[in-house]
Amino acid sequence: MEFTVKSGNPEKQRTACVVAAVFEPRRLSAAAEQLDKASGGYISGLLRRGDMEGKVGQSLLLYGVPNTLCDRVLLVGCGKEREFDLATYRKVVAAAARELNEGGAMEAVFYLAELPLKGYDIPHRVNQAVQFIEGALYRFDRLKSKPSSVRRPLRKVTLAVPSRRDLGPAEQAIRVGQATAEGMALARDLGNLPGNICTPSYLADEARRLAKSFDSLSTEVLEEKEMEELGMGALLSVSRGSRQPAKLIVLRHRGAGEEEKPVVLVGKGLTFDAGGISLKPAQAMDEMKYDMGGAAGVLGTLLACARLNLPLNVVGVIPSSENLPDGAANKPGDIVTSMSGQTIEILNTDAEGRLILCDALTYVERFEPATVVDLATLTGACVIALGKHAHGLFSNHSPLAHELLNAGKESGDRAWEMPLWEEYQEQLDSNFADMANVGGREGGAITAACFLSRFTKKYHWAHLDIAGTAWLGGKEKGGTGRPVPLLVQFLLNRAENR
Ligand code: BES
Ligand code: MN
Ligand code: ZN
Repeated sequence: MEFTVKSGNPEKQRTACVVAAVFEPRRLSAAAEQLDKASGGYISGLLRRGDMEGKVGQSLLLYGVPNTLCDRVLLVGCGKEREFDLATYRKVVAAAARELNEGGAMEAVFYLAELPLKGYDIPHRVNQAVQFIEGALYRFDRLKSKPSSVRRPLRKVTLAVPSRRDLGPAEQAIRVGQATAEGMALARDLGNLPGNICTPSYLADEARRLAKSFDSLSTEVLEEKEMEELGMGALLSVSRGSRQPAKLIVLRHRGAGEEEKPVVLVGKGLTFDAGGISLKPAQAMDEMKYDMGGAAGVLGTLLACARLNLPLNVVGVIPSSENLPDGAANKPGDIVTSMSGQTIEILNTDAEGRLILCDALTYVERFEPATVVDLATLTGACVIALGKHAHGLFSNHSPLAHELLNAGKESGDRAWEMPLWEEYQEQLDSNFADMANVGGREGGAITAACFLSRFTKKYHWAHLDIAGTAWLGGKEKGGTGRPVPLLVQFLLNRAENR
């Protein structure tokens, strides 16, 4: 999609379609008001006759509105003006993009970034609109023999801003929005790819491809032999049950001087999680191809960093494996030694994410990180606690937790903080090893985070449990691209406050 910004009156736009808002009940936005004035009350006349109330999700496509230079006007309902928030803005922008894409107008001028959205400035609204439009038009049909084609797709969107002074910052915001959307699309693609295609080796190749495409990116892939030499007994125990070799993928973005400590992102890359010997039930097991959502989020975020030439050093680290039942697989009761030297009794082979993450979290000490954030589709318990709306956030450093919470609010990709209290740690006690890999049913997302916290004592660390947010199930099954927006915003804020 091509995006541009513009300021100017809607009735003067020579375009296939002008998009303007109507609030409930039948209240015109500033742009709709201008169109109404120019057309001698044409729009208010229609609304008076009851054609549109302005509810969220409503729309009305008009042709030949008098005294305008556009072919069409698309009125979109935005609900009550007082209740207009980021989530509604997303719905409205996305719905308009879908409707235009399916209709005949191949380009449009959106008068939506000027709507009163408290707490978000104009450039931020432009950034978000770009992400919402790209997100709404995303399709994953490369594995269908006949990809569905749209007859006259939307090709060019112009985002109108209130004043000429907004143009410069809004242009920069388009670049940020496009980079974020590109990172999200990559994360969604990788998630949607099935486990027989997207293997640990595939993820490694993807990292190599990214490193080839950008000067700021470089990659290194550790093989099982090297992991053995490093003593990664926890990670390797998970991949023993699989015919696909495990990979430890390192993808670095060099955006600042050598001496500057990097932000390290660690992503769980389970390309398929059957549970191992503690086999999962068949119900929705296919969705465990998304168990590499953390890895996808890391790759998507690094792509955005590179695209934006972000002036920060960022290191992505992805431990990647499958978790399958096999004669060589982990068995309940097995005890393994992690790279940190701590021993782990594996009481449930399905709690494998923490086993591959703990060695990666020890490995990243060598980067002397400014901070470490891991992202992992770690627990079903987190889905029960927070559903599909918020990532679970845990941290050993409260300023870092606040940075991430704020980046979540700014980007609309929100996280919610959960406790990492000492009291929960004893649920991991083992009679035979330093710890067990599971802590029982109570507070399952918390005890999983407690497990990781035993490997992250040497640096500031946060953990995002994205089990409920990285993909959607049911009819809308598909990767979401989250938490790329949160992480890009977090890194942009860091770059700015450096
Ligand atoms: N990848 C799963 C977590 C998961 C489950 C994410 C369902 C999304 C939906 C993880 O490896 C896992 O199996 N966790 C277990 C841990 C338990 C055995 C302590 C879980 O959540 O059931
Ligand atoms: Mn599992
Ligand atoms: Zn898993």
